[in-house]
Amino acid sequence: MPIAFDERRKIFKLDAAGSSYLIGIHEDRYLAHLYYGAYIPDDNLTDFARRREYASFSASDPERKDPSFSPDTCPFEIGGSGTADMRIASVAIRNADGNDVTDFRYVSHRIFDGKPALPGLPSLYEETPGDCRTLEILTRDDTTHAECVLRYTAYEKYPAITRSLTLKNGSGKTMEIERAMSLCLDMNSADFDLVTLYGRHNQERNFTRRPLSHGLQGIASRRGSSSHQQNPFLALISRGGGEDHGEAYGFNLVYSANFLGEIEVDYNESARVILGINPDDFGWRLAPGEEFTAPEAVMVFSAEGLGGMSRAFHRLYNHNLIRGAWKTKKRPLLVNNWEGTGMRFDDEKLYAIAKWAAETGIEMFVMDDGWFGRRDDDTSSLGDWFVDEKKFRHGLGAFIDRVTALGLKFGIWFEPEMISPDSDLFLAHPDWAIGVPDRKRSEGRQQYVLDMTRKDVRDYIFERMKDILGNNDVSYLKWDFNRNVTEPGSALLPPEKQKEFYHRYILGTYELMGRIVDAFPGLLVENCSGGGGRYDPGMLAFSPQIWCSDNTDALSRVDIQFGSSLCYPASVQGAHVSASRRSSYETKRNVAMWGSFGYELDPEKIREEDRAAIREQIADYHKYYDLIHRGDLYRLICPWDDPYKCAWEFVSEDKTEALTTVLVKFRTEGRNFFLRLKGLDPDKTYVFEENGEEYSGALLMNAGINLFGMPNEDGYSKTLHFTASR
Ligand code: GLA
Repeated sequence: MPIAFDERRKIFKLDAAGSSYLIGIHEDRYLAHLYYGAYIPDDNLTDFARRREYASFSASDPERKDPSFSPDTCPFEIGGSGTADMRIASVAIRNADGNDVTDFRYVSHRIFDGKPALPGLPSLYEETPGDCRTLEILTRDDTTHAECVLRYTAYEKYPAITRSLTLKNGSGKTMEIERAMSLCLDMNSADFDLVTLYGRHNQERNFTRRPLSHGLQGIASRRGSSSHQQNPFLALISRGGGEDHGEAYGFNLVYSANFLGEIEVDYNESARVILGINPDDFGWRLAPGEEFTAPEAVMVFSAEGLGGMSRAFHRLYNHNLIRGAWKTKKRPLLVNNWEGTGMRFDDEKLYAIAKWAAETGIEMFVMDDGWFGRRDDDTSSLGDWFVDEKKFRHGLGAFIDRVTALGLKFGIWFEPEMISPDSDLFLAHPDWAIGVPDRKRSEGRQQYVLDMTRKDVRDYIFERMKDILGNNDVSYLKWDFNRNVTEPGSALLPPEKQKEFYHRYILGTYELMGRIVDAFPGLLVENCSGGGGRYDPGMLAFSPQIWCSDNTDALSRVDIQFGSSLCYPASVQGAHVSASRRSSYETKRNVAMWGSFGYELDPEKIREEDRAAIREQIADYHKYYDLIHRGDLYRLICPWDDPYKCAWEFVSEDKTEALTTVLVKFRTEGRNFFLRLKGLDPDKTYVFEENGEEYSGALLMNAGINLFGMPNEDGYSKTLHFTASR
């Protein structure tokens, strides 16, 4: 049973595939955090809420009975505000008296099978009946009558627990939520390194690792999106731990807008982790009886280092987050015209690409930006979702018919949340763009952002999209988002609700995405935000794949893919072979195969010898599809450990097949290169496809393969394929 309550000790115990999480109800009804880590069979941990001593500066309840208890030191499940718990607050509500003292105490709980969906927000789900169980704990602030329901779901097959909370105004007066962090976790030790993923456009999700130190440290976005700059992911790895060993805790927020992930190491050497909506620029008014639900946070534990943590995230997301027709269905191999043509094309140019694609064995043609309005460059037309008849002289439908007659599926690009100042839509509805009174709007890529908090705006965009998607044979939608939000404000929100803008924005976007996905259940949606600016689990609930980065240069793309793999599976990673100059088609293929594979180029410019290589690549795409999309990833040599070369490996779930890729980023002189594999069955015998030699799994993992003869050249790469013979 993954969740149990010990009546005598008043302890909740959540067990999730090799991990345990324990919560105690203190005698004063505080919810104390007792333990999170590797599985323990029993729950005799009442003592863990106590700390050695506290000085007069650690305040406490005047009626307290237990001298070893102070809210200043007790590990909590919820960090109140303005109370004797002086650490970073996880929840703060300003009440009708004007103060924000917030102090939630246990009232009741219920434990049930499955998992409820969160209103208006994406979240993980129960994949098969009984694969997860939920604990809901009702807490109340006895003074203000605010209520908080803490929700925990434990998964049977994965070492994962998801958390969310709902705040309710149980008083007769309006309150304002100032902080509603989805996760608050007081670790019993601060002896960890913090791993986060930072970046920028074209270089997303770089791995960085630093020791926790006293005080505050963390990551945030205030860009209106989860952002290229910081991913809403952080991990704690025990000091000295690494890819295969050490205790790793991963935290990820199922949210696509402003977030904060912060850690405070206090004077007791414990670490409080909070993760949720960024409280900067956030506020939410709650009228009497109203509720507010914060997004879901995912926690994964592994005693096998960062590698074990990543594999648990991958399986969890493949099974319990990604949904819809394309969750398990094989994704079509596509060609996208963006890098080949930009916006300068017409139907004949696109048809030539589609024709080459069909002849080469590609399965889908995706038409990118530039098909609508007067969009010949990025200065105009976003919002004018009407086909440009100069480019499609016989109409879009006729063009799509020609493409599908080639045996290809057809995909299309939209940027639904945007509006160009130079557009008919902006002329008609200037107030539909986000902005604040008397202040110029900042431009980003010469465009503004539509006010997705407004239903009329969403309805209009939905109708335009429905017109194009519904009246044409469209199989795939690329949903882009190419700038950050500035001057956040909606013409329709009253001043006292303007602080709700950012969260309302993303709720509006989710609502529109949900409507599109529901209206077109067969559509394959690929999310994109200038590459991977919204590469987060919130988006994955609507689109099973995300364009990983606009950077398609294999040698730098590989670093982005390594970073992304910390918590996102290969199946979601849009990765294409492009015409970028730096590497061979072999290396481009090897890197792009780590994901949802495709092409992004102008076939006219491909050299004859590369055309044949592309045909072979397509055969390999089919050969390795299941292994890459469903197998387990092992990072063998990471770019953050070795600047010269890197290697990664996919192993099938039953350990009968493995595909390893090695890439020399920069040539180095005179080094040995024994590559040790991981994740195989030591007792199985594997055949190395290249030479037919047989090796035991134990040999391949302990001694490795000697790659002394491999060409030592910048950008050289190769794949090594092993299949179990017995
Ligand atoms: C973004 C995307 C690209 C392409 C362009 C089109 O940058 O990441 O793939 O779709 O927009 O404008």
